[in-house]
Amino acid sequence: MCGIIGYLGNKDAYPILMKGLHRLEYRGYDSAGIALLQSDKINIYKCQGKVCELEKYCEDKNLSGITGIAHTRWATHGEPNDVNAHPHFSSDGRTALIHNGIIENYQALKTELINRGYVFQSDTDTEVLIHLIEDIKKVGNNELPEAVRLALSQVVGTYAIIVMSVDDPNTLVVARKGSPLIIGFGQNEYYIASDGSALVEYTDKVVYLKNEEMAVLTKGDDIRIKTIKNKNRPHYIEKLEMTLSELEKGGYEHFMLKEIFEQPRSVADSMRGRLNSVKEIVALGGIVEYEEHLLRARRIIIVACGTSYHAGLVAEYMFEDLIRIPVEVEYASEFRYRNPIIYSDDVVIAISQSGETADTLAAIELARQKGATVLGICNVVGSSIARATHAGSYTHAGPEIGVASTKAFTAQVTVLTLMALCMAKRKGKISKTRYATIINELESIPRKIKTILDSNDLMKEIAAYMKQFNNALYLGRNYNYPVALEGALKLKEISYIHAEGYPAAEMKHGPIALIDEDMPVVVIATTNGTYDKVVSNIQEVKTRKGKIISIVTQGDTDVRNLSDYVIEIPETEEMLVPLLATVPLQLLAYHVAVMRGRNVDQPRNLAKSVTVE
Ligand code: M6R
Repeated sequence: MCGIIGYLGNKDAYPILMKGLHRLEYRGYDSAGIALLQSDKINIYKCQGKVCELEKYCEDKNLSGITGIAHTRWATHGEPNDVNAHPHFSSDGRTALIHNGIIENYQALKTELINRGYVFQSDTDTEVLIHLIEDIKKVGNNELPEAVRLALSQVVGTYAIIVMSVDDPNTLVVARKGSPLIIGFGQNEYYIASDGSALVEYTDKVVYLKNEEMAVLTKGDDIRIKTIKNKNRPHYIEKLEMTLSELEKGGYEHFMLKEIFEQPRSVADSMRGRLNSVKEIVALGGIVEYEEHLLRARRIIIVACGTSYHAGLVAEYMFEDLIRIPVEVEYASEFRYRNPIIYSDDVVIAISQSGETADTLAAIELARQKGATVLGICNVVGSSIARATHAGSYTHAGPEIGVASTKAFTAQVTVLTLMALCMAKRKGKISKTRYATIINELESIPRKIKTILDSNDLMKEIAAYMKQFNNALYLGRNYNYPVALEGALKLKEISYIHAEGYPAAEMKHGPIALIDEDMPVVVIATTNGTYDKVVSNIQEVKTRKGKIISIVTQGDTDVRNLSDYVIEIPETEEMLVPLLATVPLQLLAYHVAVMRGRNVDQPRNLAKSVTVE
């Protein structure tokens, strides 16, 4: 939520900042703004709307300057308008700041500052911070870095900030707590951003600032890092693992479509070096040191949000089936606030594409405080969750830019399957034959996804039918229940059609009352242990004139005869069906959204990385 970028060097800052804003726009697109240091003045250009609106607004402006900061906003405090857009500036206009996060105690600080004579322009929590810095700077005659540090020590909440000032034109001060921040090193220049996508074409030498750290970046000088509590910290330069081509649409109309079509590759990448079907070896290097904890675990608790939560539900079925350890899957946002029982011999697995989700991070902190071992499954390398866990495995799906998560889900399920297989073998809970069968099947998944992608035209045809409705139900049982949830989430978040995922057998406990000829029902009815039961559920819908769109195993005839539309997927092991059945549902949601004229990659009110509660 919110993307921030800063530049300090010898080049023109505006094009660097503008390109960075486009790259970070997936983090929020309610408003955008840029501040440039020009001679002895800071000029701020900001407006409501997307980054392209800002670009238009800037067209006839003087955009010179070799130092600047820029922000793309996902509104929390204060409606999306020009005034609430960042950057915010001090009363004397000499200092400007951008912020990603939430200042929770902003009201108390604001009242105090108003009493001291400060006049607020906006309704944001952020403006409090810039006036606080200004006040501390003036009253204590402090230098900018020290004023920033002292101000941050009064703040409750989360932040990633960049501050610049006319009084210290060769310096940017940056800090973070909760929200991510990465510093890139060029030739006598610094690039700062919420993530590596905004820096990748300029440098691959980066420092990931840690929680509650700040850095003073001065032209021609070495970076200085210290904690908010004023302890000096060393810095370690790392290599940014990202390529420019991963951040481009590569000929696809939308990132989401590109990412759906990348899945044969991304699933294969998440297995690479971890699975050898010939030698029947499954190994997850990242968690090797913690395998014993997993083997001895009294219980596994999975915490995640949104799509990652659905991957966690698939894992619950799989882990209990294969490893025979009790598993609980929790929305991280509920877990963190409900005083859960956590034992020191529990293993908590946090799943997150971005690795920055605030609720998941808080759930991790809670679990660690209670002494549990915490493992992470993240996509973004170096992300906060990857750092906050004891150990973990990256999914290696590559950057996911579309707000709707697609390839991240299949990669998460793949890694969780590897984990389950690895543990099942070590615990002696799986027969040699079953182990070998699942491994072989897993290896064939990328090829099978490819064949599903070939039915893209059929998905378009079904989408043309679906797009007329305002509601939809998604049904599945067992491993297909999380698939139903995920299919419904995809449809609602990008097409704005109201959709619900349900366990098929729960229909008769309420939702069946909704069925009439205007209710399309998507049923995942692949051949498995509950197939006959699902067929009965379909019949119940049919009797009430509901429209059936089914996902079936290749060659199925029973469900086909009951369906208005049928999508066939290749046969596979029951526990691997989510890796296949989710793909046509992603395509369906995508095409419905396109046909309804939605902004597929940037759906309204959403942001890719949810760094606020
Ligand atoms: O980055 P995370 O996996 O932690 O994100 C969790 C959810 O915010 C995310 O899955 C969200 O639900 C997506 N928009 C779903 O497509």
